[in-house]
Amino acid sequence: MIEIKNICKSFEGREVLKDVSTIFEKGKTNLIIGQSGSGKTVLLKSIVGLFEIDCGEILFDNRDTHRMNFKEQKLLRREIGMVFQNGALFDSLSVEQNVRFPMDMFTDMTMKEKTSRLNFCLERVNIKQSNHLYPAEISGGMRKRVAIARAIALNPKYLFCDEPNSGLDPVTSILIDALIKEITAEFDITTVINTHDMNSVMEIGEKILFISEGLKCWEGNNTQIFNTRNKKLNAFIFASPFSKKFREIRQQEDDE
Ligand SMILES: Nc1ncnc2c1ncn2[C@@H]1O[C@H](COP(=O)(O)OP(=O)(O)OP(=O)(O)O)[C@@H](O)[C@H]1O
Ligand SMILES: [Mg+2]
Repeated sequence: MIEIKNICKSFEGREVLKDVSTIFEKGKTNLIIGQSGSGKTVLLKSIVGLFEIDCGEILFDNRDTHRMNFKEQKLLRREIGMVFQNGALFDSLSVEQNVRFPMDMFTDMTMKEKTSRLNFCLERVNIKQSNHLYPAEISGGMRKRVAIARAIALNPKYLFCDEPNSGLDPVTSILIDALIKEITAEFDITTVINTHDMNSVMEIGEKILFISEGLKCWEGNNTQIFNTRNKKLNAFIFASPFSKKFREIRQQEDDE
C-alpha cells in the first residue's frame, strides 16, 4: 500500500500538484487518470522520488520517505519497478541485457542466478526467442513487454507504469493491461498506472484517481466511474464519440 498525503509540487512558482492525497492499494491496479498536462507524470515521478515534493508525505507500507536514511532509501529503490512513458529501453542493449541491467546495478546475484531470473521474467511476459534482438528490431508491443520484464526483474513490491499503452493498437493495449493486472495480483504488488485510455479504465481500474489541473477531483473504481455525476470527470470520460454514444444510451435508460 502506498499512501500520499497533501502532496504539492511547483515548477518555478507554477503549481502543478495541489494538495493531492490518496491511497494506492496492494495487489491492485491503481490508475491515475486525467487530461494531458494535468500532472500525472509529475505525480508518479514525485512518488518514486525522481522529483522532490514541496510539501506532503509519501508512505510506502507506512514507511515515510522523508524519515528514511540513505540505506533505507536505497532499499526502497530496490523494491520499485518502473515502466517509463515511451518504454525507455536502452537502445544499445539487447532484450536480455535490458532485463539483466537492474540486477547488474542493484544486486550481487551470480551470473547463473541472473540468467535464470531474466529467463523467468521474459517467459512471464511471453517474450520468446528474442533475447539477442535489440529494441529497434522488435515491435512496440514487445518493447512494452520487455520494459515490464525489466521492471519486475528485482521482484518489486511497487510497480509504476507511465502510459504503458501509448502508441499501441487497442488489441495489444488490452493484452498489456491484462498482463500488468495478472502480474500485480500474482505477486501481490502495489501497482500505479498513469493512463488516459478509457479501455484501461474499464478493464483494470480497480482503484482510480482522477486529477484535473493538479487537483484530485474524484476517486473510486471502474463501476462507480460510470455512475458519477462529477462534471469534470464526465467531460473527461465522455469526450470520445464512442463514449458520447454510451452516455446517450445511459440517458435514454434514465428517462425510461
Ligand atoms: N521538469 C519540469 N519542469 C517544469 N515544468 C514541468 C516539468 N515536468 C512537468 N512540468 C509541467 O507540469 C505539468 C504537468 O505535466 P505532466 O507531464 O505531469 O502531465 P501529464 O498529465 O503526465 O500529461 P500527459 O498525459 O501528456 O503525459 C505540465 O504543465 C508540464 O509542463
Ligand atoms: Mg505524462
